[in-house]
Amino acid sequence: MAPPRHVCVTGGGGFIASWLVKLLLSRGYAVHATLRDPCDPKNAHLMQLDGAAENLRLFKADVLDRAALAAAVEGCEGVFHVASPVPLDKLVDPESEVIVPAVKGTSNILEVCSTMKVQKVVVVSSTATVHFNPNWPQGKPKDESCWSDKKEVLTR
Ligand SMILES: NC(=O)c1ccc[n+]([C@@H]2O[C@H](COP(=O)([O-])OP(=O)(O)OC[C@H]3O[C@@H](n4cnc5c(N)ncnc54)[C@H](OP(=O)(O)O)[C@@H]3O)[C@@H](O)[C@H]2O)c1
Repeated sequence: MAPPRHVCVTGGGGFIASWLVKLLLSRGYAVHATLRDPCDPKNAHLMQLDGAAENLRLFKADVLDRAALAAAVEGCEGVFHVASPVPLDKLVDPESEVIVPAVKGTSNILEVCSTMKVQKVVVVSSTATVHFNPNWPQGKPKDESCWSDKKEVLTR
């Protein structure tokens, strides 16, 4: 039997990433999942997924730590970058709490993937990037040419 193909999922314990890890394992991939704290009980569900014992490896990595990201990406042909702060409460310092990890975290993983010659990278964005555009024609599908108006976002 051919060895499994390896992919990495950042922020593996989050809502979307957990479902993605489950799907990838069910399709026979070997998954490297990054977590800020692999020992946190909130991430315990991952090792209970079908196929996890054989094909899931957990890596401790903050998205601001390039060396830790590189260790998780090593040997992977694809990377799904899902880790991002998703704040539920009012922010004290939006710059450090969201902007820096979102922007720097994404550039870190892209640089690691480029250096390590990863074949495919999927970056999960947010509907907030396109949703708040009052000038977009009604009913026209939103694509990469549509961007939210910052003023609209900040008044929400
Ligand atoms: N949920 C949706 O319906 C939806 C829809 C469209 C797009 N999205 C986007 O999908 C992405 C994930 O959303 P989600 O709903 O799955 O959120 P989530 O459950 O809060 O997951 C976010 C993950 O990112 C990790 N993370 C946050 N800051 C990090 C950092 N500095 N370093 C490493 N990991 C970090 C969190 O790890 P910790 O557990 O350590 O905090 C968590 O595992 C976000 O970009 C969101 O905007 C979500």
